[in-house]
Amino acid sequence: MAVERTLSIIKPDAVAKNAIGEIAARFEKAGLNIVAMKMLQLDDEKAGGFYAEHKERPFFADLVGFMTSGPVVVQVLEGENAITANRDLMGATNPKEAAAGTIRADFAETIDANAVHGSDSAESAAREIAYFFGEGEICPR
Ligand code: TYD
Ligand code: MG
Repeated sequence: MAVERTLSIIKPDAVAKNAIGEIAARFEKAGLNIVAMKMLQLDDEKAGGFYAEHKERPFFADLVGFMTSGPVVVQVLEGENAITANRDLMGATNPKEAAAGTIRADFAETIDANAVHGSDSAESAAREIAYFFGEGEICPR
């Protein structure tokens, strides 16, 4: 087991339904410490750059449109196996396939508005954290 950091985003659909607190509570109750957190309104450039790996996918334009449709809450989560632990809490990308009790099962209905983002590897976590936070904005505990 290793202490890791991962990037979480509470997406515009979940912010709009006032689920920030309930989602953040799931991280905390699972033993993941929120060591950085801010609310942002993304623009096309910032959202598109974040999802650059999906630039050629057919859903890219809709994804950027969705991610800029309202504010998001970006967080750095820190804890044992944080990357996998967060992905487990989130559930499958398609909420219809997400296991009962996961965030996507409980807060989302469709794949294009699926409540949360979580880094999928150590490499993407490092890139995604640096994309939103300077080291001075992260407060390890
Ligand atoms: P992806 O990285 O595959 O999923 P995850 O968020 O679980 O890491 O895709 C990024 C986002 O793109 C996903 O959360 C929602 C959107 N998306 C679609 O809208 N349609 C799709 O078919 C896929 C695969 C993703
Ligand atoms: Mg992904």
